[in-house]
Amino acid sequence: MTISDTLLRVRMLTVGFPNIHGPNEVVKSLDFDVARGGALGIVGESGSGKSMTSLAVMGLLPKGAKRTGSIEFDGTELTALPERAMRSVRGDRIAMIFQDPLSSLNPYYTVGTQIMEAYRSHRTGVTRRQARNVAIEAMERVHISDAARRVDHYPHQFSGGMRQRVMIAMTLSMEPELIIADEPTTALDVTVQAQILDLLAEIRADTGAGLILITHDLAVVSEVTDHIVVMRDGDLVEQGPAERIFTDPQEPYTRMLLDAVPRIDDEIGLLRTVSTEEGR
Ligand SMILES: Nc1ncnc2c1ncn2[C@@H]1O[C@H](COP(=O)(O)OP(=O)(O)OP(=O)(O)O)[C@@H](O)[C@H]1O
Ligand SMILES: [Mg+2]
Repeated sequence: MTISDTLLRVRMLTVGFPNIHGPNEVVKSLDFDVARGGALGIVGESGSGKSMTSLAVMGLLPKGAKRTGSIEFDGTELTALPERAMRSVRGDRIAMIFQDPLSSLNPYYTVGTQIMEAYRSHRTGVTRRQARNVAIEAMERVHISDAARRVDHYPHQFSGGMRQRVMIAMTLSMEPELIIADEPTTALDVTVQAQILDLLAEIRADTGAGLILITHDLAVVSEVTDHIVVMRDGDLVEQGPAERIFTDPQEPYTRMLLDAVPRIDDEIGLLRTVSTEEGR
């Protein structure tokens, strides 16, 4: 891959929480790329280091974390950027969607106000009216019907799936080049999950933004992404084209993750749910 096809290039990324017992690494020397307009899935069970990887990219690691390695975004080394410059990359060029939209939305402001504020904080010289139109357009793009009215509603007036759409609308209004979605559908029921995934795929196709989709569900990533990184205990277990990882996993751990995916059994045609239903 040449530089120009690569949107994000991560090399030897290590995240640790050093303590008296040692470096306590939770992400260990990780290498991966996100192609321009590409979608990368990061999968692994709870605690494998998926969120720490994405927070390391965003420069939002918790206090006490130590990050080493290289994170090159569109040719810029993010690890060398001062916080001020990093702040303008965040939100404006790289945006993040979290698992629980309620924790990212303020209950005391209408969703419209929040989308408008987010948009205006990254654009200078935007009037309220312009920002409001951007908010309504963004809500229409994520298929919230009656957006011109719903823009004045508060987060609690939306269902979980609709709130996640609002978060995605907020992200879209910034026109980011890379969207990082950390378990964006885990808190939602299965039907709504599928709708949100379709929406992410649609947005990717429409905007050409790169996507990193983080989940513990291999079936979810294989539908939406074209390349998959499998993590365990901070290590990269294997990576490759989504299709190949899903149909021909090379590592026993990946096979185990696949077995945890509910699927139709070929021979008896029974729905086999090996995994726990936690998180749904
Ligand atoms: N502030 C912290 N101090 C020390 N260790 C931490 C801290 N935050 C997270 N960790 C550890 O880092 C490891 C990786 O956590 P991370 O949140 O990246 O996992 P994850 O793959 O996102 O899991 P999940 O699927 O549950 O979200 C975990 O073992 C966690 O306990
Ligand atoms: Mg996580």
